[in-house]
Amino acid sequence: MTQITEIAPDIFKISTFIPETNIQFQQFLVRDEEPLLYHTGMKGIFQMVKDLIAKLIDPKTIRWVGFSHFEADECGALREWQEIAPDATAICSFVSKVVSVDDVVAERPAKALKDGEVIVTGKSRFRFLQTPHVPHAWDAGHLFEENSATLLCSDLFHQNGDVEPITNSEIVSRFKETLIEYQQGPFANYLPLTSKTAQMLKRLADLKPKTIAPMHGSTYVGDGESAIYDLLKVMKDVLG
Ligand SMILES: [Fe+2]
Ligand SMILES: [Fe+2]
Repeated sequence: MTQITEIAPDIFKISTFIPETNIQFQQFLVRDEEPLLYHTGMKGIFQMVKDLIAKLIDPKTIRWVGFSHFEADECGALREWQEIAPDATAICSFVSKVVSVDDVVAERPAKALKDGEVIVTGKSRFRFLQTPHVPHAWDAGHLFEENSATLLCSDLFHQNGDVEPITNSEIVSRFKETLIEYQQGPFANYLPLTSKTAQMLKRLADLKPKTIAPMHGSTYVGDGESAIYDLLKVMKDVLG
């Protein structure tokens, strides 16, 4: 049910499959001088995620905790992480920090990242892009690791099922299946399609990612720019 996969040099994906909801939850651990955890996972899986991360680094040494937006799978266990890692600071959008994170889940104040700001963790460089309502939520953003061209893309490219950790085959068809499935139930309108969606996805495509790392589903290694335009087409087809 859980596995660890290195998706780019020293970027590891920790994956947990929950059969009841047919969904994988993934966290990404960057092993570097200043270790970075992207997505904390929910409080309910904190102990399990911590034990997996302990196979890679000493969890106490985590310096940065990043996430896209305020939601349980993104940052629900932030306080638990900050209790065991004394130097761990959350990094997120200004909106995330002031609207929710500092009050609800942070043990210490988060560091708000400006659009385009870069965090250097040692050999890795993470650029922050503020992307309101992409994938969803006002406070949403993305981190892009510039050396490996890895886009940590949160709920974009969400694929249900216990899928393979990493693939060179396209993942947009599976994303479409998930979106159609969600439209028919209580998770309808999961991702909004707004007048600004195309423009924001273009910014992500212009980064020309080589690795696309969603929170739910397989990591894709290939032409990320084309994959993002294919994803936009699917969103227009299903949600437009
Ligand atoms: Fe989300
Ligand atoms: Fe999510």
